[in-house]
Amino acid sequence: MRSLAGLSPEPQPVLAHPAFVKNAPLLEWVAKIARLTRPASVHWCDGSQAEYEDLCSRLVASGTFLKLNPAKRPGSYLALSDPSDVARVEDRTFICSVRKDDAGPTNNWLDPREMKRKLLPLLDGSMQGRTMYVVPFSMGPIGSPLSQAGVQITDSAYVAVSMRIMTRMGRQVLDALGTDGSFVPCLHSVGMPLAPGQGDVAWPCNKDHKYIVHFPEENAIWSFGSGYGGNALLGKKCLALRIASSMGRQQGWLAEHMLILGVESPQGRKSYVAAAFPSACGKTNFAMMIPPAAFRGWKVTTIGDDIAWIKADADGRLRAINPEYGFFGVAPGTSEKSNPNAMATLHANCIFTNVALTPDGDVWWEGMTDQPPAQLTDWQGRAWTPDCGRPAAHPNARFTVPAAQCPSIDPDWENPQGVPISAFVFGGRRSTTIPLVIQSYSWVDGVYMAATLGSETTAAATAKVGEVRRDPMAMLPFCGYHIGDYFEHWLAIGRGIEHPPRIFCVNWFRKDANGKFLWPGFGDNMRVLKWIMDRCEDRAGAMESPLGWMPRHDDLQLDGLGLTADRFAELVGLEREAWLRELDLHQELFAKLDHRLPEEFRLKRESLLVSLQRSPERWASR
Ligand code: GTP
Ligand code: SPV
Ligand code: MN
Repeated sequence: MRSLAGLSPEPQPVLAHPAFVKNAPLLEWVAKIARLTRPASVHWCDGSQAEYEDLCSRLVASGTFLKLNPAKRPGSYLALSDPSDVARVEDRTFICSVRKDDAGPTNNWLDPREMKRKLLPLLDGSMQGRTMYVVPFSMGPIGSPLSQAGVQITDSAYVAVSMRIMTRMGRQVLDALGTDGSFVPCLHSVGMPLAPGQGDVAWPCNKDHKYIVHFPEENAIWSFGSGYGGNALLGKKCLALRIASSMGRQQGWLAEHMLILGVESPQGRKSYVAAAFPSACGKTNFAMMIPPAAFRGWKVTTIGDDIAWIKADADGRLRAINPEYGFFGVAPGTSEKSNPNAMATLHANCIFTNVALTPDGDVWWEGMTDQPPAQLTDWQGRAWTPDCGRPAAHPNARFTVPAAQCPSIDPDWENPQGVPISAFVFGGRRSTTIPLVIQSYSWVDGVYMAATLGSETTAAATAKVGEVRRDPMAMLPFCGYHIGDYFEHWLAIGRGIEHPPRIFCVNWFRKDANGKFLWPGFGDNMRVLKWIMDRCEDRAGAMESPLGWMPRHDDLQLDGLGLTADRFAELVGLEREAWLRELDLHQELFAKLDHRLPEEFRLKRESLLVSLQRSPERWASR
């Protein structure tokens, strides 16, 4: 590991550490950070159950956790965050590559030395009065050729226990690292030191300064000021997406914002699909889907719900692993109706953040039941009644739960070789314009469709909700390098393999003139998934459209839905004017890429323009 520029190079005092810590670069780094941040004590996490329970008890004692009623929700806790610290902070997230051009037009950038000059004074003494936790973790099964080790230093016990659910955490990671193995150093401070005698707050964070910073050339992460989600659980978005995407580009693999699911037919045919949707746009739901009654004998299994690491194997197929060990899922909207597998996963051993508390010590959120309880304590700890005019749970309230508890978890979810991917699916949240499903004509066409994906923004980031923005491959907030180079990397991956997955775009969110969803979604997405699976095996029909292959009414198994031919036409229709506007928005994105725009994209856009101009005002498959 390289030394951190800006820190003194003097020899470090050796801190007391448990015998299982033998990695010299790690000891050196921890000593350096301890000297900088000056914690009251250092705790090396071994990852044991006893340690987890002890930390949770401390969090209860400090008021960060409330223990939920063990009869209703065994082993589970509720945390309420500071109201200013509820989601990812995209405007405070930086890719500090040496050259600005390598971060590209979609990332915030600052010179790495300048960023360190800004952050070092903030980190100086930032852990005073707190315990510094050293959290060794593996993204991916330990020992898998696709996995990566990380070590997070954090002054948040909430983060330490969350990391034990979300990653493979503890001494077995250090055992695998040995005396000199390398790891991604992840430094995290909530940025709220305690003066002697100063009492703590339930959710420490820094209201004035937040920085989520990545140094791609040294594979290092510094995060300051926030304790929430992707800002603070650094294995997830920071390592497994931003840093990993940059590693993957250099090493010839992909780190993607994708769920991975298995789908098995009644005859026992099984395929795996990886699907990218922007934050809070349905990955968890799709990954755990239960097929509707008309699909007796079909089974959907879950490999992961948020991140996929994907690499070609010796046979020229792409194989994927889920680098995570738990789910950090959106709570609102999750119900027995919308996602029974998630509800079953949540029966025990969960950490809930920013949901509401029921009088009998259980949790509730909008959409969990049709009728809200008569009274609750809301996510800000205030008394709540259904008529009070405020949501009970924050829209980005989340659960943290072990993936192994999911009833639909796939037997191969920890396979160190990953699972072979037959199809990539990309989907946005679009109330207009985008049809239910399109299959691209080719890899290049598919990469173009994915790169120009648009979606309405959600509460997963602290920004304006509901605005359409381009979100290439659902990776806009997560690509750790120049987005034009990322597109080239995708094109190169397809050229380099014998059996590229087929590429599809979907939209579950199209609405009619009255603002009602045209597609029932959730379990009924199986109808689209089956068509996708069959298309991959050349078993299903389709019709050419100006954009790609589209199913006709009879190509989809729609029985039992009561979807009229008119509504189907609305759902899959292409309106020429709307699509010409869409192509203008593609151009707006492309203009930002300048000379790094792949030539294939320029040509593809031109040919799309021609086919749209030749198409009728309204086109629909029949
Ligand atoms: P991150 O964890 O933020 O990356 O997001 P995710 O993609 O896993 O989000 P999740 O699956 O939790 O999405 C939750 C939101 O999507 C809720 O508002 C759901 O109601 C909505 N949703 C999920 N599936 C469907 C669907 O098929 N149709 C419709 N209309 N809404 C859906
Ligand atoms: C997302 O926002 O895409 C998430 C949640 O998966 S967080 O980990 O907070 O980024
Ligand atoms: Mn996500």
